[in-house]
Amino acid sequence: MRTTVGWQAGPAGAELHQVPLERRDLRPDDVAVRVDYCGVCHSDLHALRRDGRDTSLVPGHEFTGVVTEVGSGVTRFAAGDAVAVGNIVDSCGECPMCERGQENFCHEFPTLTYDGTDRHDGSTTLGGYSREYVVREGFTYPLPAGLDPAAAAPLLCAGITVWEPLRALGVGPDSRVAVAGLGGLGHLAVKLAVALGAETTVLSRSADKAEDARRLGAHDLIVSTDERQLAAARDRFDVVLDTIAVPHDLGPYLKLVALDGTLGVVGYLGPVTVPMMDLLAGRKRLGSAGSGGRPATAEMLAFCAEHDVTADIELLPSKQVNEALERLGRNDVRYRFVLDLSDLS
Ligand SMILES: NC(=O)c1ccc[n+]([C@@H]2O[C@H](COP(=O)([O-])OP(=O)(O)OC[C@H]3O[C@@H](n4cnc5c(N)ncnc54)[C@H](OP(=O)(O)O)[C@@H]3O)[C@@H](O)[C@H]2O)c1
Ligand SMILES: [Zn+2]
Ligand SMILES: [Zn+2]
Repeated sequence: MRTTVGWQAGPAGAELHQVPLERRDLRPDDVAVRVDYCGVCHSDLHALRRDGRDTSLVPGHEFTGVVTEVGSGVTRFAAGDAVAVGNIVDSCGECPMCERGQENFCHEFPTLTYDGTDRHDGSTTLGGYSREYVVREGFTYPLPAGLDPAAAAPLLCAGITVWEPLRALGVGPDSRVAVAGLGGLGHLAVKLAVALGAETTVLSRSADKAEDARRLGAHDLIVSTDERQLAAARDRFDVVLDTIAVPHDLGPYLKLVALDGTLGVVGYLGPVTVPMMDLLAGRKRLGSAGSGGRPATAEMLAFCAEHDVTADIELLPSKQVNEALERLGRNDVRYRFVLDLSDLS
């Protein structure tokens, strides 16, 4: 075993605290990554607040860093390479989903970067709020030159989670896209949809983010609590991508979907009730997605490098992790906290 340092949850309600962590010795296809920057995803908050969660939880599943060591069979990386790792670190590699490059939908469930179960030794994975991570090379991505490593970290969860559905739904220059919830996922969805050429609108609870929406490239912001604005936008969007972090009624968002369009829900993933009539009137579709497969992740990183897309971040030393989580919980972030792990040694 090798030892590193990270931020661990502890008992419910306690703040994350710094602890020594063990990482496995490198298997032939592993790389060791010095984690430099890790984004703070709302899923980390959900995981920390989940009833009955493990006290050993170490969150963090969108990070960038540098390879420090490679296993004997590694061919794609060498020490010193800049890399990025997302929220999936392994999958079966053999099921129909894996064969299609959709490791995110692996029939054996992909191994998550934290709170997942390692396929070889059965250990619980510990995330990227730490100085080192050991990961299969196949789930490690070269960080394209030109992308700022801190601002690129959120691409590996927030970015890919919105990229894959935007692409799968064929978003391009002729599309009208609305993004509900302007947070970590939402602001990247806006940037990516705009870069894909779509006419893009933000749906937000107030007009507070209108200027930001325009700066991000959106054409418009609709206040989702304003009935008049919603009524005026009825049936307007080919794709509504819903990144809202809490349970909510999908009805008002389905009304904004155009004939044969899609409401893609990637934010809140619990049960929802939808009257079929809300889909019937307009032959509308309801879908979801999560994370991305390896081909789509690589494609997204290349696209971001070409179009200069990264997250708008507030970079904090990792010792301020509890402040970041607390502020994220009350929506006080524009638009992603990223932890600088260099204060861990
Ligand atoms: N599918 C996946 O694989 C996947 C991956 C990553 C994250 N997620 C999930 O996606 C969600 C968003 O994550 P994030 O990191 O982008 O979170 P975030 O930065 O906190 O953004 C969430 C946005 O939701 C809106 N919102 C928050 N509270 C709301 C409320 N009470 N009513 C209505 N809208 C509200 C806000 O937008 P406005 O202020 O603009 O209204 C907020 O900016 C989380 O639930 C997360 O777990 C899913
Ligand atoms: Zn995430
Ligand atoms: Zn599989």
